[in-house]
Amino acid sequence: MPENTRPQRARRSCLAVPGSSPKMMDKARGLRVDQVFLDLEDACAPLEKPGARKNIVAALTEGGWGDRTRVVRVNDLSTEWAYRDVIEVVEGAGASLDCVMLPKVQSAAQVQWLDVLLTQIELANGLEVGRLGIEAQIEDPRGLVNVESIAAASPRLETIIFGPADFMASSNMRGLVVGDQPPGYDVGDAFHYPLARILMAARANGLQAIDGPYAQIRDVEGYRRVAGRSAALGFDGKWVLHPGQVEAANEVFSPRQQDYDHAENILDAYEFSTSVDGGARGAVMLGDEMIDEASRKMALVIALQGRAAGMKRHDIWSRPTGGEG
Ligand code: GLV
Ligand code: MG
Repeated sequence: MPENTRPQRARRSCLAVPGSSPKMMDKARGLRVDQVFLDLEDACAPLEKPGARKNIVAALTEGGWGDRTRVVRVNDLSTEWAYRDVIEVVEGAGASLDCVMLPKVQSAAQVQWLDVLLTQIELANGLEVGRLGIEAQIEDPRGLVNVESIAAASPRLETIIFGPADFMASSNMRGLVVGDQPPGYDVGDAFHYPLARILMAARANGLQAIDGPYAQIRDVEGYRRVAGRSAALGFDGKWVLHPGQVEAANEVFSPRQQDYDHAENILDAYEFSTSVDGGARGAVMLGDEMIDEASRKMALVIALQGRAAGMKRHDIWSRPTGGEG
């Protein structure tokens, strides 16, 4: 995977909060989510948007977000609101913000527009140039067919996000439950193609891949099922629309304890055996399992996910004291 020099942030659970509701923003401060995004786009009615910008600036500058990643979703570039969203929020609270989310991205040029605008605002306001990251939503066919160039468009990019609701609408998919399978498609996962394509474009550029919302907020089992699919595919996290989905997201996108322990044990065993003390061999045994450089890379993925989730190893491999093992 190409190296990404952006800060590495956990994004198992990404909570959507309407910027029009100071009450909901306040409540979000108490939820155990990895990321909060304050929304100026589809969760705010047109007449609410100017007021929502002010609410968001106030909520960010007031603070109280702990170590959650703080993101604002602005409106898309086809609207009259996008430029003013970025200017008002970043001028007002740029130092208290981590990333700007751009919805309905259709081309690399749209990401570059945001990159340039952020640089100008950072320069004019004495903010560190390049600190703010970009999250790009892919939610329609044009965005999906251009996702490879979009994912390579800016060094500010941190994630590519799938937007199932707008994607279903714009591609004429015959379903009404956001994030769930369209009725009648009984031969597989109707979202496999966009999810896999987004994942490849993200990974090819060292970015995270995030799955979008599941709108049946009372059906936590349904959420687990849908989230489990994108987690198995390799996605890093998923949106949550309701406090009831948070625990499921954090669990589904964290490794299981036994996998985390195993991964850390593989890393230790491999490091030991490739060192001079351990005999400097390239392939070694851990119990009945043969491990080599490829196993080390697989283990590293799980170990990093677990460390980001604050996991601690339970089952510690005892390292041999001599050169054998
Ligand atoms: C999210 O923005 C979606 O359209 O699903
Ligand atoms: Mg959308």
